Amino acid sequence: MKVLVIGSGGREHALVWKIAQSPLVSSLMAAPGSPGMADNAICFDVPVSDLDGLVTLATDQAVDLVVVGPENPLCDGLADMLRENGIATFGPSKAAAMLETSKAFAKDFYARHNVPTARYGVFDDATKAKAFLDGFKPPYVLKTDGLAAGKGVVIPQTREEAEAEIDAFLSGKFGDASSTLVIEEFMHGEEVSVFALCDGTDVKFFGAAQDHKRVGEGDTGLNTGGMGAYSPAPIATPELIETVMETIIKPVTTGLAADGAPFQGVLFAGIMVTDEGPKVVEFNIRFGDPECQVLMMRAKSDILPLLDAAARGTLAAQPDVDWTHDPAITVVMAAEGYPGSYAKGSVITGIDAVNEMTGVQVFEAGTARNEAGDVTAAGGRVLNVTAIGESLHYAADRVYAAVDDIEWADGFCRRDIAWRALKAH
Ligand code: AMP
Ligand code: GLY
Repeated sequence: MKVLVIGSGGREHALVWKIAQSPLVSSLMAAPGSPGMADNAICFDVPVSDLDGLVTLATDQAVDLVVVGPENPLCDGLADMLRENGIATFGPSKAAAMLETSKAFAKDFYARHNVPTARYGVFDDATKAKAFLDGFKPPYVLKTDGLAAGKGVVIPQTREEAEAEIDAFLSGKFGDASSTLVIEEFMHGEEVSVFALCDGTDVKFFGAAQDHKRVGEGDTGLNTGGMGAYSPAPIATPELIETVMETIIKPVTTGLAADGAPFQGVLFAGIMVTDEGPKVVEFNIRFGDPECQVLMMRAKSDILPLLDAAARGTLAAQPDVDWTHDPAITVVMAAEGYPGSYAKGSVITGIDAVNEMTGVQVFEAGTARNEAGDVTAAGGRVLNVTAIGESLHYAADRVYAAVDDIEWADGFCRRDIAWRALKAH
């Protein structure tokens, strides 16, 4: 099978690394790919924003399956264009991707299909938005309607701060993404990311993980795209997963199909486990980054037949995914300054040696190579140092031993990834 993976981040590196292990692959390609992926895939220099270029590439290469990593091309309709050209695609249509494209759309969709989530209002007028705050106690939750790379949520602790944020959102703090804003009730509880494959009709649980969204240790500081993840998450008991599948995931997939937008790909439910049961924080229409990295480390099954079946509507015929019980942890090494501004170009050494360590794999999220062939930092989130072990403590010791062996003067990471589960053991 000829497979093309779209994207260039750590998530896509992990997908490429795992798919490359499938005996079914005859040729593995990536666009644009990354220097880290080049060990396993032929990289084509077509950016994810060039939808026509990606379709041409897939057609020219007679690709059997396209696996789309990031949300932006899906929200812009890449999967529709590929399918119109007869190419099987793992990733939802533009219509189904609306769940992630617009938080206002998503909230209205949950209300129509009885999916449990926080109370909310949608505004493009500051006076009305501020008045709506009367119905809530602090902290307040403000979200951009549009995509903002995981950073479009602020949680002001006071009314005064919330009102100032409303003004900032509506005057373009996040550009067009915040010209409409969603105000939500604050949900108390523990968060977990739950994944499910869907082929338009059937769904299959595809693992759970816990992310660490805040930049600082102890879950402090600004929200980021994710600073580390681990799986399995003790909170994701079989009972909780069953409840999430029955009361959240299946109503969403049947709701999308009923609305004429059947979902093919992976659904990522951001869940808050509250005293009243699991509720949706948000849905994403692609794998989590960095959650995907730990799922790929833990999947014993060949995932390619599952991704292909999701793309072709034949998921029911596939066996359930076989996961190792061994926990995996991924630690994001980011450039000093992230999620604000940061410098690029500093040299990173030690990755090859770390990849030789048992149970350790470094996925490259934002790297380049300089003229001397050194690995250099080229993004905010730069490396995903990932390790698996017989216990969570073992995985944590390994992952931080690996982090300590990587030399990168301008990098930082959180030292407390998986703290919740480690504390419980
Ligand atoms: P989102 O981009 O919607 O996933 O939000 C980013 C993060 O903000 C979530 O992972 C939560 O930690 C937090 N958050 C978002 N919405 C709420 C809410 N209604 N109540 C509590 N925390 C929230
Ligand atoms: N790690 C959260 C996300 O991918 O949105």
